[in-house]
Amino acid sequence: MSYRDVYAAWQADPEGYWMDAARAIDWVEPPSKALFDGNAPLYEWYADGRVNTCWNAVDRHVEAGRGAQVAIIHDSPVTGTIHKITYAELRNRVARLAGALAAKGVGKGDRVIIYMPMVPEALEAMLACARLGAIHSVVFGGFAANELAVRIDDAQPKCIIAASCGIEPGRIVHYKPLLDGALDQAEHRPDFCVIFQREEEVARLEEGRDVDWHAFQYGVAEADCVPVEGNHPAYILYTSGTTGQPKGVVRPTAGHLVALNWTMKAIYNVSPGEVFWAASDVGWVVGHSYICYAPLIHGNTTIVFEGKPVGTPDAGTFWRVISDHRVTSFFTAPTAFRAIKREDPAGELVKDYDLSSLRALYLAGERADPDTIQWAERVLNVPVYDHWWQTETGYTIAGNPAGIEALPVKLGSPTVPMPGYDVQILDEAGQPLPRGELGAIAVKLPLPPGTLPTLWNAEERFRKSYLTTFPGYYETGDAGMIDEDGYLYIMARTDDVINVAGHRLSTGAMEEVLAAHPDVAECAVIGVTDQLKGQLPMGFVCLNKGAVVSQEEVTQDCITLVRDQIGPVAAFKLVAVVDRLPKTRSGKILRATMVKICDSQEFKMPATIDDPAILDEIRAAVQPLGYGG
Ligand code: COA
Ligand code: AMP
Repeated sequence: MSYRDVYAAWQADPEGYWMDAARAIDWVEPPSKALFDGNAPLYEWYADGRVNTCWNAVDRHVEAGRGAQVAIIHDSPVTGTIHKITYAELRNRVARLAGALAAKGVGKGDRVIIYMPMVPEALEAMLACARLGAIHSVVFGGFAANELAVRIDDAQPKCIIAASCGIEPGRIVHYKPLLDGALDQAEHRPDFCVIFQREEEVARLEEGRDVDWHAFQYGVAEADCVPVEGNHPAYILYTSGTTGQPKGVVRPTAGHLVALNWTMKAIYNVSPGEVFWAASDVGWVVGHSYICYAPLIHGNTTIVFEGKPVGTPDAGTFWRVISDHRVTSFFTAPTAFRAIKREDPAGELVKDYDLSSLRALYLAGERADPDTIQWAERVLNVPVYDHWWQTETGYTIAGNPAGIEALPVKLGSPTVPMPGYDVQILDEAGQPLPRGELGAIAVKLPLPPGTLPTLWNAEERFRKSYLTTFPGYYETGDAGMIDEDGYLYIMARTDDVINVAGHRLSTGAMEEVLAAHPDVAECAVIGVTDQLKGQLPMGFVCLNKGAVVSQEEVTQDCITLVRDQIGPVAAFKLVAVVDRLPKTRSGKILRATMVKICDSQEFKMPATIDDPAILDEIRAAVQPLGYGG
């Protein structure tokens, strides 16, 4: 069948389409139907089925005779180790960990925060939660203690599972002190914390609260898989929104299983048994879906890579991993390729490795610039597929369905909507726009299985953030267009979200941090273009009248504040101290115009601007930072 046939089959009978896809999953009790729309515009999928994620990701493969197949390869150039875990070993490790958690009272519906670097134990912790029907929330290691505290207070975990440390090139990330700091700040108290001690740094455990990962598993009975309802939350993943309070995206269990399993063949074109690699981090949605769940649900071997595209030890490290482990399908962010290209422009290092196993490269997380795509195609000699998705959806909204039919690539486009997604371009009034016209990208409701049914503890925010602007649609927060051939183009965000090295960050959250500085009267943070990371945050601060602090001091303070409050991952290093900010007559800060000035792009003078002269002041202020020239 062609892509068009498959898409048309879904359009003609969505219920039949998703019931059919559900057959690839092992159910304890199969659902009576796919879509539950009794509470529209809130939708649920497979709500009356009963199922367990861990069973589908681990045990069933062992039962089916795949126990000896490698499930997880931990390839860690930062520690110089490679370690393989078979499906049978994984089953035992996860069942024992789940047993130990259960013995300490963790059960169905309890939340568990996981704060771990790229080690297989992070996946095991996720799967152990899934085994018990506990709801995990993984927090990315590049966030500061404050961000962890915010998530602890929102998710109210019964338990936190953390590693003693992570390893970034040139430094140890002290996870345990960060955890202790977060617990000092948070109001909520977990019952206990489990600490996975790494050789690189052994953390001090707090009597009565912390238990050792190995010790607490000693002598406990293994736990069986607990069946949960199809709409039971599998996990919460916090992501950036407009304000400093992150959004807790809820992932429903059954839809997640069905949809992710479907993508492995249809999009990534792999068969069970083959090696799939997503070079991301378990703290992000790509890591949840494509380092942990999808490859395991589908019976593939997944790679947990603890390193960077460059510097660990060199720009050939990705090629080494692909060649050593015979990777067939590889997924990463364009930034990673830009970093490699910068170090090895001619792709010389590729020649040292046998990449014959590789069939395709998949890019997502940020706009894939044509230069990077063409470079990757040239050096790897495989098709390069851009695909567009979000934390909220958990998998591809638009992509190139290589396992159904590889469509011709058009540079700058992530190709076409996947079955399940009726993508429309809308004008401000919510009316569909003709092909070729730029507008807000929205998806006609219902969203397909696996996508977010709501936000954790925040249904009103869910409705307001996604369902209110365009009734009957999900608002993606991205703007773009669809061309004559039905190809989608993603041009920009319509909100305060920026994308730094494939990491989603909120400028609003950074503004909240800067505004708390005692000498700052007013501030704005925008995303400016960066050749490597796609975007970088740039802060503009106006000081209080009479502030005696020097510009250098306030700049350094602001950088430190964002690093301490949000984390190093924000890469907040650009600050301009200005007398005033450009605004409309009604007082709205003209952030989009500021972006254009910094990026040296032409712009139309906003008709409502209060004082055009301020724009020259902005330009003069950013030129020393290397922008606006
Ligand atoms: N734990 C702790 N700190 C982390 C971290 C983690 N898991 N990940 C990143 N950081 C820190 C880095 O050490 C760095 O700190 P520094 O300011 O002290 O140097 C900061 O956060 C920014 O990190 P990063 O964005 O990784 O930038 P970099 O300059 O170190 O590396 C790249 C640049 C391009 C190599 C890197 O960004 C990269 O590999 N990008 C790919 C991104 C990706 O896979 N995204 C996932 C979405 S699919
Ligand atoms: P995240 O939730 O971190 O996955 O970030 C989602 C956002 O990243 C999207 O809303 C887009 O703005 C951006 N994004 C992700 N993939 C792509 C892509 N292939 N092309 C352009 N933008 C993308």
